[in-house]
Amino acid sequence: MTRTTQELLEAGDRHGSSTFSPARMILDHGEGVWIYDRDGNKYLDFVAGIAVTSLGYNHPRLTAALRDQVERLMHVSNLYYSAEQIELVDTLCARSFADRVFLCNSGTEAVESAIKLARRYQNVVVGKPEKYGIVSMLKSFHGRTMGALAATGQPKYHAGFEPMLPGFDYAEYNNLEDVASKVGPNTAAVLIEPIQGEGGVNPADAEFLRGLRKLCDDNGALLIFDEIQTGVGRTGKFFAHEAADVRPDIVTLAKGLGGGVPIGAMLSTEEIFQAFVKGSHGTTFGGNPLAARAALTVLEVLDEEELMANAAARGEQLREGLEALAERYDVIQSVRGRGLMMGAICGDAAPAIVGECLKQGLLINTAGGNTLRFVPPMIVSEDDVKEALKRLGKALEVFANS
Ligand SMILES: Cc1ncc(COP(=O)(O)O)c(C=O)c1O
Repeated sequence: MTRTTQELLEAGDRHGSSTFSPARMILDHGEGVWIYDRDGNKYLDFVAGIAVTSLGYNHPRLTAALRDQVERLMHVSNLYYSAEQIELVDTLCARSFADRVFLCNSGTEAVESAIKLARRYQNVVVGKPEKYGIVSMLKSFHGRTMGALAATGQPKYHAGFEPMLPGFDYAEYNNLEDVASKVGPNTAAVLIEPIQGEGGVNPADAEFLRGLRKLCDDNGALLIFDEIQTGVGRTGKFFAHEAADVRPDIVTLAKGLGGGVPIGAMLSTEEIFQAFVKGSHGTTFGGNPLAARAALTVLEVLDEEELMANAAARGEQLREGLEALAERYDVIQSVRGRGLMMGAICGDAAPAIVGECLKQGLLINTAGGNTLRFVPPMIVSEDDVKEALKRLGKALEVFANS
């Protein structure tokens, strides 16, 4: 390491993409829920790569599995099978409603795949090419590629990239009547996050999700749950939609599935997958043995270490702690979320609170501009949550009621 931190930051700012504005430290290594910068500062990480590093850093099982996989085989393309890929799709189907899985590399790619599958299903299986509409929710977030972007119900993400793809419409979250007014004979699918993540950690009512199922059935539309942020146990169940006991037609996963190795997945049924025939859709990297081995290991550890139960218990601890802080500090208006996907609504102060937390050695970030988001690794302990709440409390002193 010849360059100083300052020199590296300057080089990053000069040549890195202008779309980002990273915090002023350079992260170097991690252990459990702690991450260290190259200058020896340590941070309690309640961002987890934005709900990605589900097993924390340097988890012995994941590190060993990946080391072994790197030495054996990293990539083969989808011209060939690997045992890791087969085991992964098999496991995902065994623990879900799905019969088939399309593996890809990111959340946005999983959403693109879902939109394409829904449209092609209505077109070639149902025989209604006019049925291509996708209804998604206002304040949703589904990704940055053109299809997922069109489905994202936030004008600020569309700005300057118009025209958006045709056939997308948006309805108010948790408002069945509004969704019903947008769904009709031309609707291919309704796309929704069971808890909106980037929009501000906003959970859907169970009744609303059940209403969507019926609405879709009545209109021959598919119901797609985007579980990219909520899935793989984060809310205390494998899928967040399980809490409402609603059967989906398609589910997208990414983020926590690979524990830090990029992977996405689009799950659906045999009936709907009839629409995808050889060559209909594809990917070079998707489902390669390295990413598949990472995901398989995450799923194994999820069970072995009972991380879903941990997510539920630690989530409740976090909620109670945040509610107690809300009593003390008016700047926290309310707390919402489920399991280890928790939000504290703080209005305009949210970004400044994130900055104060960083000074206290606690990493959190904002969602929806006004919400503090807490999505720590699922291995987080009772003491870790206590420590995070203590550090947050210190950060909030700056915003204490006068
Ligand atoms: C619900 C949801 N869908 C899709 C995406 C896009 O995922 P990616 O950034 O991996 O493309 C995100 C990312 O934040 C997300 O939260």
